[in-house]
Amino acid sequence: MPAKPLATVRTAAALRRAVAQWRKRGDTVALVPTMGALHAGHMALVTRARRLAKRTVVSLFVNPAQFGPHEDFAKYPRDEAADRAKLREAGVDLLFAPDVAEIYPPGFATAVAVSGLADTLDGVHRPGHFTGVATVVAKLLIVAQADFACFGEKDYQQLQIVKRMAADLDIPTRIVGVPTVRERDGLALSSRNGYLSQDERALAPTLHRVLLDTAEHIEHGANIDDAVARATSELTMSGFDGVDYFAAVDAETLEPLDRLDRPARLLVAVQLGRARLIDNEPLKPTSRAPAAGSGRPRSGTRPRGGSSR
Ligand code: PAF
Repeated sequence: MPAKPLATVRTAAALRRAVAQWRKRGDTVALVPTMGALHAGHMALVTRARRLAKRTVVSLFVNPAQFGPHEDFAKYPRDEAADRAKLREAGVDLLFAPDVAEIYPPGFATAVAVSGLADTLDGVHRPGHFTGVATVVAKLLIVAQADFACFGEKDYQQLQIVKRMAADLDIPTRIVGVPTVRERDGLALSSRNGYLSQDERALAPTLHRVLLDTAEHIEHGANIDDAVARATSELTMSGFDGVDYFAAVDAETLEPLDRLDRPARLLVAVQLGRARLIDNEPLKPTSRAPAAGSGRPRSGTRPRGGSSR
């Protein structure tokens, strides 16, 4: 017997109706917003969503508002048929795949700007990007009325911005962060990894290795500015085409940090050929991380093992 096709709606009204019917029966709902080109990282979001709620909705929308004029909107990988097959196999209940005019009808004039969080790191290098993200995610959350929405920690700044936006707008959906899924060699999965040439792909895992080493140094008391400067120069010397930023920040506010006295995160963005890679790693405050520590790091104690696939 041929498998049942994945139920799909393309309008906000149809999504609202489907969710309202589930809610009438008392079913809980989780949303996974995506831009398609689904890989194991997205499927981890789906798995988490299915554990959280009775019903799972995935949205597939390549959002033009979050691409800069010289970015890859036109070339962004699109394969709805392949995505649908993966989602059906994974047991997703409904796909919401609107077109651009459904999300941004003529006359659309509203933007959701999250100041502070969106003005740093990627916000500096991709002006307007996070306003595009926050606007579309706000719309998706409002229409889907989900109990939960799952986002990857790989886009760590995006995750913090979405949490702030949902809290500020009193959107009652719980925003859930899901750990990054990596290749065996540590490279974080991304729909854009396909842009890498063979040589670039061989170099790309260095990014995660340098992140892990730097996190370990800082957790063992290295001076944060020195550790970050050393990491930046190591990445440049290894052959990355540019380091947009390498920063140690407060895990929630993303404000720069000069001592490891609270939960923190290392965030990095580099250029590699046609691809721009981002990644991040948690920094845990330890009793060994003094206020202005600069002792030599002990290495080899941080858990490695790139793969969570
Ligand atoms: O992370 C993404 O794929 C996108 O930024 C999102 C959250 C689906 C909004 O377009």
